Amino acid sequence: MNRPAANLSEVYPLVPLKSVSGRGVYLEDGRGRRVLDLYGGHAVAALGYAHPRLTEAIGRQAQALQFQSNIVALKIRDEAAERLADFAPEPLSRVFFVNSGAEANENALRIALRSTGRNKVVAMEHAFHGRTAAAAAVSWGSQSWYGFPRTPFDVTFVPRNDVDALQAAVGSDTAAVIIEPVQGVAGAFDFSRPFMAAARECCDRSGALLILDEVQTGVGRLGEPFGADYYDVRPDLLTAAKGLGGGFPCAAVLMTAELAADIGFGALGSTFGGGPLACAAINTVLEVIESDNLLARVRETSARIIETCVRGPVTGTCGAGLLVGLRTDPRAASVLEALLRKDILTGTSADPHVLRLLPPLILETRHVKRLARALEELDSETL
Ligand SMILES: Cc1ncc(COP(=O)(O)O)c(C=O)c1O
Repeated sequence: MNRPAANLSEVYPLVPLKSVSGRGVYLEDGRGRRVLDLYGGHAVAALGYAHPRLTEAIGRQAQALQFQSNIVALKIRDEAAERLADFAPEPLSRVFFVNSGAEANENALRIALRSTGRNKVVAMEHAFHGRTAAAAAVSWGSQSWYGFPRTPFDVTFVPRNDVDALQAAVGSDTAAVIIEPVQGVAGAFDFSRPFMAAARECCDRSGALLILDEVQTGVGRLGEPFGADYYDVRPDLLTAAKGLGGGFPCAAVLMTAELAADIGFGALGSTFGGGPLACAAINTVLEVIESDNLLARVRETSARIIETCVRGPVTGTCGAGLLVGLRTDPRAASVLEALLRKDILTGTSADPHVLRLLPPLILETRHVKRLARALEELDSETL
């Protein structure tokens, strides 16, 4: 891993690659090196790089109107909200635009606590929901980096897929259960269908709200519009970010009309959320997913990865859609380094033996073939 430039805070360990541009599923270093990007900027580059329709839409909006606040109605914002609500599962018909995944979760949790008047949240072991006060409070293991003197509400963590523990944890004091349908940072851990159904049942029984954190799983990544569709579970609140703007920073909280009616003026707000450039990006990402049939493509390339990439250092797979974990016998970090020497970028996760793939949704089977070949060629002695 490399160190950052002198004026950047030393927060992120860097992979040995400096990119200046990108095209399709490739990153370019300006000196002739082209790297196949199977990590997609943490799942953000949903349409890959320099997608002509996304570039054109952002450029066109930049010419027309670069910013206006939420006190002035915008045609492009109305369109983005309508398109996103149409894309989302019923009954999530209301949208509140924000800027990042953590901010979306912060607001979803606030809505749940305010609307139920309760003070406890049930979260999953190994979850990651962001680094702000409430989002980090429901992130597993955040005590080691939390930094605030106390969490804003009580949190109970439940072991993953343990239906009995979930049922025992959710009670009349629970405001919300928050789940990533497939845990990303934890290492592409996909919850069982019975567990997801039990989460909905526990919330119905106790009057708690079900929040799906789809910051990583949403907007087509699992081969369905959202993880809610993949699991056929209807949440009360859903958060989306990452791929939503295809690289333009933006996020959203989706909720039922009933919850939205409860919020009232002034309870939520954001200066930049729902800005015109973000909305132009959201409209285009959703349009391209539909017009280019990307959900079917995600299902197909995902199946191809699972069929063909268990080879070389890889002993199995986990996850769903294009949030795939490759279980590695050697440490995933050493497989990442070896693949990068072959000009393929992948990612690690909190599980030291899971290599995480979050490629652009436009990935093709020929790119999967290249990964499979590279894995085959990895020499166990160099790992
Ligand atoms: C599931 C999930 N929720 C929330 C976040 C936080 O998003 P952001 O970094 O945009 O605040 C992440 C980031 O990795 C995530 O994977």
